[in-house]
Amino acid sequence: MDICDKIVDVRKRVNAWKKEGLTIGFVPTMGYLHEGHKSLIDAARKDNDRVVVSIFVNPMQFAPTEDLESYPRDLQKDSQLCKDAGVDLIFHPQPEEMYADGFCSYVDMNGLTTELCGKSRPIHFRGVQTVVLKLFNIVKPDKAYFGQKDAQQLAVIKRMVKDLNVDTEIVGCPIIREPDGLAKSSRNTYLNPDERKAALILSRSLKLGKELIESGETDSKKVIKAITDSINTEPLAKIDYVDIVDFSTITPTDKIGKSALVAVAVYIGKTRLIDNFITQ
Ligand code: PAF
Repeated sequence: MDICDKIVDVRKRVNAWKKEGLTIGFVPTMGYLHEGHKSLIDAARKDNDRVVVSIFVNPMQFAPTEDLESYPRDLQKDSQLCKDAGVDLIFHPQPEEMYADGFCSYVDMNGLTTELCGKSRPIHFRGVQTVVLKLFNIVKPDKAYFGQKDAQQLAVIKRMVKDLNVDTEIVGCPIIREPDGLAKSSRNTYLNPDERKAALILSRSLKLGKELIESGETDSKKVIKAITDSINTEPLAKIDYVDIVDFSTITPTDKIGKSALVAVAVYIGKTRLIDNFITQ
């Protein structure tokens, strides 16, 4: 497995693979890899001849008040996980490599990014889209893998690729959970033991909402209220949002049908966690 920190070195390798007619699967990450990332790498490994993982904590998607500095990093552990999982190449650039002096071009969209996380993180998706398109232009993947845990991100990337005719197939992969239900996230490491217990309120409350829908409830307001009431029973939890939107357009939906994204963002202490499910 190679680790490259320069764009030119990644290009050399991927161009050689392309010349040989090999397919490339790509997993963009911000590192501190866990089972969730591993499931994306496994999917990429299964579908493609070569697998590239990027590890880059992208400053552009963090607001000044957010956790860019404290975001967990461990390249050594990440490299081992990637090696064990059969990754061919890690791209680990420094910010100066991705954003040269004078950088001023961005990717943005008018829809999809205004609801859910876009409300409390207004610059976030512009940063995500910009870096993902740049990474696609560097890695030139046939397929790229994103987790459903960041469902809005997945919808935004699918839309961006469609709108801008990017020749990469976007593959969404299921949420991976701890045995007790907490969705895997690099940010779970911020939680102290009490907060870790309290964080279970997200998956428990979503389960309740899911059961309500499965028992025939279609009124979004009622499901949102049931989930909200449940989360509010946890004293350490502070709701950012509980919402139901259409998964592909990320627009609010009053009546729950197929492909409704039921999503929550909740502060447990200072840590903001997200979780969701999509109706079948
Ligand atoms: O989901 C993430 O880890 C990041 O948003 C991504 C897609 C790697 C872009 O920085």
